[in-house]
Amino acid sequence: MSVLSGKKVILGVTGGIAAYKTASLVRLFIKAGAQVQVIMTPASVDFVTPLTLSTLSKNPVHINFFNEEDESAQWNNHVDLGLWADFMIIAPATANTMSKMVNGNCDNLLIATYLSAKCPVYYAPAMDLDMYKHPSTLSSFEALKHFGNIMIPAENGELASGLSGEGRMAEPENIIAFIEKDLESKLPLRGKKILVTAGPTYEAIDPVRFIGNHSTGKMGYDIADAAANMGAEVVLISGPTHLKPKNDAVTVVRISSAEEMYTACHEYFDSVDVAIAAAAVADYRPKNVAAQKIKKNDASFTIELEKTKDILASLGQIKKKQLLIGFALETENEIEHAKQKIQKKNLDLIVLNSLNDSGAGFGKPTNKVTFIDKNFVIEPQELKSKEEVAVDIVNKIVSHYA
Ligand code: CTP
Repeated sequence: MSVLSGKKVILGVTGGIAAYKTASLVRLFIKAGAQVQVIMTPASVDFVTPLTLSTLSKNPVHINFFNEEDESAQWNNHVDLGLWADFMIIAPATANTMSKMVNGNCDNLLIATYLSAKCPVYYAPAMDLDMYKHPSTLSSFEALKHFGNIMIPAENGELASGLSGEGRMAEPENIIAFIEKDLESKLPLRGKKILVTAGPTYEAIDPVRFIGNHSTGKMGYDIADAAANMGAEVVLISGPTHLKPKNDAVTVVRISSAEEMYTACHEYFDSVDVAIAAAAVADYRPKNVAAQKIKKNDASFTIELEKTKDILASLGQIKKKQLLIGFALETENEIEHAKQKIQKKNLDLIVLNSLNDSGAGFGKPTNKVTFIDKNFVIEPQELKSKEEVAVDIVNKIVSHYA
């Protein structure tokens, strides 16, 4: 999955011949899962049509502060546009537009939005080779760098003038690759390795039957996705579930029983920075597993159970640098029980679910949790979607390392 997925992008198009390439650029952003709003300078509409860019971006194109032909038309709010975006990209950025960006010369909607935006701004210059090297252009580059704007350097090649040299706008594929690489390098969990357990475990009774539970695994899968989206390398050790991570950078290790989950966790634990145990591990398993299918010969049938290993507690015993996060599902004396689990399992943080809260627990798309850290600082959370709870949990990790 591209780091651009779900990102809100403002593409500013200015009046250079390379503007025709922005049709491909919009397509590539959309293909990567981004939302795009296009702002065109009045001069750029001679090079590419607003209809092309609105069709490809699936959004109206903004050109003027308001539509002069339509009296009922609304003012285009550049402040709202600037605040909406996760980042802006101005491509092509002509020498004229760069000079306006440097001086705050706000005579069009694009520059007004640029000046209002608080998000990162990329720009891809495009001009003839001598213009590209002119001291005035070079000083624009310097000033824009000083403002924190990020230049996507022009490429070498044939120019519209017929000359050949540096000044061609970077190809749309290269612009996308540049932005993806830049965004990835700034993800807050880059370089961190995270282990997540998810789902139920199945404890065999005989070759066809097992003891299991109602866990869907959704909470753990959402945590794995959220951590990977923030740049972590994620190993997800999953019990039987039909789910798949949305982020294909997540490595999934599929297991069935508590014993297999224990072995897999211990295989990876030494190399990870964080472990999050979101699995609903069976606490007991049949002491003897029948080699053949059990026949219904008797009126009643008893299965003797033995304790499984507590995976989380075993990780707590050997942890060194790792941040260890567990879950607790309680029905009474919730806070007290959760605090005991923090100590018993040597955790840094526990995510408490109370079955007394409607909206929390197995098989629901929502969860209501309370965070309790090892110093017993208690933070009750609102009822949220499991995706949002996953992001909150991962943000706890981000602030730990901040
Ligand atoms: N857990 C685990 N291995 C087990 C049982 C639980 O790793 N064999 C983990 C779960 O993934 C969860 C945490 O321990 O993060 C708490 O599980 P829970 O079942 O609520 O608590 P238990 O310690 O099993 O205690 P009890 O069932 O008595 O409440």
